[in-house]
Amino acid sequence: MKQSLIIDCDPGVDDATGLLTAFASNAFDLLAVTTVGGNVSAEKTARNARILRQIAGRKDVPVFVGAARPLRREPAGAGEFHGAEGLGDLEPFEPSAPAGEGTSAEAIAGLVMERPAGSVALAVMGPMTNLALALRAEPRLAAHLGPVVVMGGARSEGGNITASAEFNIWADPEAAAEVFASGCRMIVMGLDVTHQVRATEERIAAIEALPTTSAKASAAMLRFSQRIERVIVGWDAGPLHDPCTVAWLLKPELFELKPCRIAVETESELTRGHTAVEFRVEAATANHFWATRADADGVFALITENLGHASGGMGA
Ligand code: RIB
Ligand code: CA
Repeated sequence: MKQSLIIDCDPGVDDATGLLTAFASNAFDLLAVTTVGGNVSAEKTARNARILRQIAGRKDVPVFVGAARPLRREPAGAGEFHGAEGLGDLEPFEPSAPAGEGTSAEAIAGLVMERPAGSVALAVMGPMTNLALALRAEPRLAAHLGPVVVMGGARSEGGNITASAEFNIWADPEAAAEVFASGCRMIVMGLDVTHQVRATEERIAAIEALPTTSAKASAAMLRFSQRIERVIVGWDAGPLHDPCTVAWLLKPELFELKPCRIAVETESELTRGHTAVEFRVEAATANHFWATRADADGVFALITENLGHASGGMGA
């Protein structure tokens, strides 16, 4: 039985590998890709998702354009890590298939509510603006959604955009606070776990050696990140954040989770977007699960295996 899935994202070079892996997998009934402003503008993230869809030969999957700005904050990009166009140094082109009618938030609420409760999973790889808007529009959504797997937050690792906050949560802390308070069952891939999943030279080379256009595109963006992370951060192998959400959906046994309760700082400018991860909860009633460990070799084996049998090509 395929897992029905919506991917909400802001491609973004790591979003791209997550998307290409999901496009290649035969484990998902991929209902839609919904995009949001984040790493680059909402216009560019939507174009980039359509580009990746074309590279993967998956024009059967609709792409929707999402929120251009956070609920309250000014839009903030992360172009230094993703390139001005958002796909590293991949030259963007106008994809042949258009975006779908309606907004990302409308698509999330509509696609989930028209299917059996709990049957649709949602992977969130960017700021949570679209999901917050969908929850506001459809109060029954939180109870009807299946697992919501989010890349965001930080606890023991500290922040990557400020000392205490990770970018996706920092970019729209009000949205994240509303989503964490909504009652959704959430599996959260924070920096504590994504920093264990490093794109080493060996792992990049294994993807680079694959023959498919999806693998070549993913490897090119991993190479871009490798160069940028060495210059900006100084580490030799950058963390692979967003694909951890897809990896958990495909093979949850690759991760260790701890039940918790997560709240988000929205008042203080100093600690804006900080995720307060409280482990002192009753496991039986918890609906937040913080990823504490990852089998990095297993995650990369899964990505490499799927990219290796990806269909499609630039014209597909
Ligand atoms: O902090 C990492 C997150 O911020 C990832 O989703 C990356 O794409 C950026 O959006
Ligand atoms: Ca992202």
